[in-house]
Amino acid sequence: MTASSDLDALLAFLPCATPKGWITAALSQQSLLLVDHANCEKKAAATAMSLLHRHTDQPELMNKMSRLAREELRHFEQVLSLMRKRDIDYIQVTASRYAGALHALVRKRDPERLVDTLLLGALIEARSCERFAAIAPHLDAELSKFYFSLLKSESRHFLDYLTLAKSIASVDEVDERLGLFRDCEKELIESEDQELRFHSGVPAAA
Ligand SMILES: [Fe+2]
Ligand SMILES: [Fe+2]
Repeated sequence: MTASSDLDALLAFLPCATPKGWITAALSQQSLLLVDHANCEKKAAATAMSLLHRHTDQPELMNKMSRLAREELRHFEQVLSLMRKRDIDYIQVTASRYAGALHALVRKRDPERLVDTLLLGALIEARSCERFAAIAPHLDAELSKFYFSLLKSESRHFLDYLTLAKSIASVDEVDERLGLFRDCEKELIESEDQELRFHSGVPAAA
């Protein structure tokens, strides 16, 4: 698959595009966005590590999650270094409503919990990738180059999660759960949100 067909598959997977209002607000609060981005990379690594701990009977999953965790931590280091270069303090930033609302839909017991966690992983990676692509053309050269460089690995993470989910769940189960997650994600992305974060909705009018 080429990079652009990867991106096409990922855009087709998402329920909606990032609203213009989010892009405008994000461009005006780039320091905050970078801090939240650093947090997202840490959380992505932690999710992969948690799957790695929980599913020691699945070699392919462990291998993919181990690689993924390393890549997310590498991204974290890259964001940190950009923040240092720009004198941006790593302030405490609360998590957005996005991941919490989606994770509340995850079923409580395995193997259902694993299927849902993998499908959500695919959705969150796809949205991150779509947002990097949406904002990158508007940023300064250094940040734009960095965000474009992330597209490739984030679209691979999306495919890794989706492939793993499809390997353990039936087509019907994947369709049904994805339908539910997509509806919730669309609402979170398109409805008004009080806080600007990497995965926030449309910024509320001041
Ligand atoms: Fe990442
Ligand atoms: Fe990722």
